Amino acid sequence: MSQQHEIVEKNIGLMAVLIALVISIGGLVQIVPLIFSAQTTTPAPGIAPYGPLALAGRDIYVREGCYNCHSQMIRPFRAETERYGHYSVAGESVYDHPFQWGSKRTGPDLARVGGRYSDDWHRVHLNNPRDVVPESNMPAYSWLSRNTVDGPTIASHMRTLRRLGVPYSDADIAGADAAVAGKTEQDAVIAYLQGLGINFAGRR
Ligand code: HEC
Repeated sequence: MSQQHEIVEKNIGLMAVLIALVISIGGLVQIVPLIFSAQTTTPAPGIAPYGPLALAGRDIYVREGCYNCHSQMIRPFRAETERYGHYSVAGESVYDHPFQWGSKRTGPDLARVGGRYSDDWHRVHLNNPRDVVPESNMPAYSWLSRNTVDGPTIASHMRTLRRLGVPYSDADIAGADAAVAGKTEQDAVIAYLQGLGINFAGRR
């Protein structure tokens, strides 16, 4: 064993610094190219920013912690694509800040749930999942139908997303208030769910 190696092994402070250095370099080598790669920064064909109502629904999805039980990331394995559809690609999530991929699946993946059920099915399911799936252990979210969506909050959220690179126009933002007027949080969540995966051109 070389002399230098012995010094490192007997000096835990130095070892910790060197370990941190190696991990940092390894991390940067993996992470930095992803920030600039076209595959992760260019929207996949058909992918557009969320409309105001769907965006409000997405906020509620995050607030209620739906991601604790649902992933939105179909892995490229046959068992997954047979069940859920085309595997997820990075370009589908370019307008998601933060993305909702997740890894915990107490319930099914939702990446392509859009259009799988009717709006009415979702209403019943959100009010009490057991009414449509008797064995379900998903919690009921019945209060969503009693809360309304706040237009100015959504408009300011769109302005913030625009700063992060989501291409909302001034007209899009000005129209947010009208787009969510009188809508309940349940309407918003359903608009969000019904849009999931439907625009991806590679979907089967
Ligand atoms: C405690 C875990 C849990 C949480 C939290 C949860 N779900 Fe679920 N979800 C499930 C389970 C289990 C199922 C499968 C049974 C069923 O359909 O109810 C399911 C099914 C679904 C389905 C039907 C998917 C399909 O392909 O059949 C949708 C849509 C859904 N959940 C949306 C939501 C939304 C929106 C939220 C947050 C407001 C949420 N879930 C929170 C567990 C959960």
